[in-house]
Amino acid sequence: MRHILGIETSCDETAAAVITDHPDANERIRSNIILSQTQEHLDYGGVVPEIAARAHLEHLPAIVEKALHDAQINHDHLDAIAVTSGPGLIGGVLVGVSFAKAFALSLGKPCYGINHLEGHALTPRLSHNVPFPYLLVLASGGHCQFIEVLDFRNYRVLGTTIDDAAGEAFDKSATLLNLPYPGGPEIEKLALKGDPKAFDFPRPLLHRDGCNLSFAGLKTAVRNAVQKEINPTEVFKANIAASFQQAVADVLTKKLTIAISLCTHPVTNCVVAGGVAANQFLGSALRSTCAEHNITFTAPPLKLCTDNAAMIGWVGMEMLTRGISADPTFLPRPRWPLAEC
Ligand code: KG4
Ligand code: ZN
Repeated sequence: MRHILGIETSCDETAAAVITDHPDANERIRSNIILSQTQEHLDYGGVVPEIAARAHLEHLPAIVEKALHDAQINHDHLDAIAVTSGPGLIGGVLVGVSFAKAFALSLGKPCYGINHLEGHALTPRLSHNVPFPYLLVLASGGHCQFIEVLDFRNYRVLGTTIDDAAGEAFDKSATLLNLPYPGGPEIEKLALKGDPKAFDFPRPLLHRDGCNLSFAGLKTAVRNAVQKEINPTEVFKANIAASFQQAVADVLTKKLTIAISLCTHPVTNCVVAGGVAANQFLGSALRSTCAEHNITFTAPPLKLCTDNAAMIGWVGMEMLTRGISADPTFLPRPRWPLAEC
């Protein structure tokens, strides 16, 4: 069995994992260590790139050692190292890439530079062995896209957000409600107690052709509603959260239906990926839409939806098993669209 060490430092999670090519998806992840920097960034309402990079530098060596220890392997067992080399906050990416390259060099092992979005895109193969082709709904803090995954390294973007990503809209709306960062899980929790019909928020681009998305107007509508309220009670906040989440669900499900029709292959599998995929309410809305179209819907377990290193290791494994050799000259890239993989 082959082993790969995955490393992820592109945002505010310092993560390392050991994965194998075990045919049983449940047996593949030997360790999956994630150190979240939420506390470091709490006072700032978002991720501060410089603080993130310094925290990665401080914690990464110990996180890697823990990943190897928990997997009960030593350095010699590794067949390769795979590290996020973009897109992301460049300081953090630099820390991960420098560490991974030096570590790989000292062990005489290959080092793969991995696109973070490809990690999210292929996670359902790691967790559920989903076969190609499939339709991917990628919704994270920085990205929101419908992608037809035709094969490995054959990605066709069907639609994308023209402004904010879904996760960004969750985070910004949460900040308006004085909820801590990251806002997605906070809004989801609060929405459970609210009325999704209390506010009639806009559903941007809903009646336009194509499956592009837009969330900036929705966020502005939340801001206006919050600013108008002199007494923002818990009930008021819960109603805002529920109405906001309902608007996001309505847009995503309508656009998913359009995305299905735009695919060049008959869609039998649809998967979600990215941090927003951790949202149970959105997940069940997307699942129902898929059921209406007789499409199997797959959502990876929560721990694999948000940023992690197992998904990065897995892309390395998809490369290794295809005999793709690692290019030692790869460089960190702050921007790197999935279609350029
Ligand atoms: O993929 P991810 O971990 O990081 C990148 O952006 O690459 O996604 C983080 C985003 C944040 O915006 C966070 O608020 C959102 O995912 N998120 C959620 C939930 N959990 C995380 N959004 C909605 N509901 C959630 N339960
Ligand atoms: Zn991500």
